[in-house]
Amino acid sequence: MKNISVGQYLLIFILVAMLGWMWMRIGALEERTLELSKPSLYLLMNQMQDQVHKLSYSIDSENTDLADFYIHELEEASEEIIRAGVEYNGQAVGELTKTMLLPVIEELEDALESGNWRLVRERHSMLVRSCNNCHVSTGYESIIIRERADVNPYNQDFSVN
Ligand code: HEC
Repeated sequence: MKNISVGQYLLIFILVAMLGWMWMRIGALEERTLELSKPSLYLLMNQMQDQVHKLSYSIDSENTDLADFYIHELEEASEEIIRAGVEYNGQAVGELTKTMLLPVIEELEDALESGNWRLVRERHSMLVRSCNNCHVSTGYESIIIRERADVNPYNQDFSVN
């Protein structure tokens, strides 16, 4: 040990300090990557709002293909919420989506397959109720979803062509 000079001690000290600093940076980077890989719940909700809305007009027009398209999009969005296991203000939103929303979407899909439009309308209303029920459960009762506006606000034709 007597061969180690003050300069070498200093070098070791600097190296250890640098290593510590790098560990901290890596930890921060890991956290940030995790944060970025989580989908934004706001954007997913926004997507679902649009999908439910467009689904309403497709159902109004009894357009099976288009309704089927939006039901699948909704299913994908809700599966993304479930996969991400999102927690929001201490609420297990992912878990709630799995129990409250996905089964209702699947029932709507079955109804569409049966070709019974009365049942499709009923289940679409149930779906909108599930959206609102979860907003109440998660403390967002001020976010109220309706089936659709009276006048189609989209520059899109939902009728069967
Ligand atoms: C599992 C619970 C849950 C379900 C089911 C759910 N939501 Fe939400 N929703 C939330 C939470 C929590 C927020 C607040 C998230 C935020 O602040 O970004 C939210 C926010 C929203 C918002 C406000 C954000 C925005 O884009 O303006 C809309 C709209 C919305 N949800 C629509 C829907 C629709 C439509 C459905 C049904 C297809 C639905 N939600 C189903 C929990 C849920």
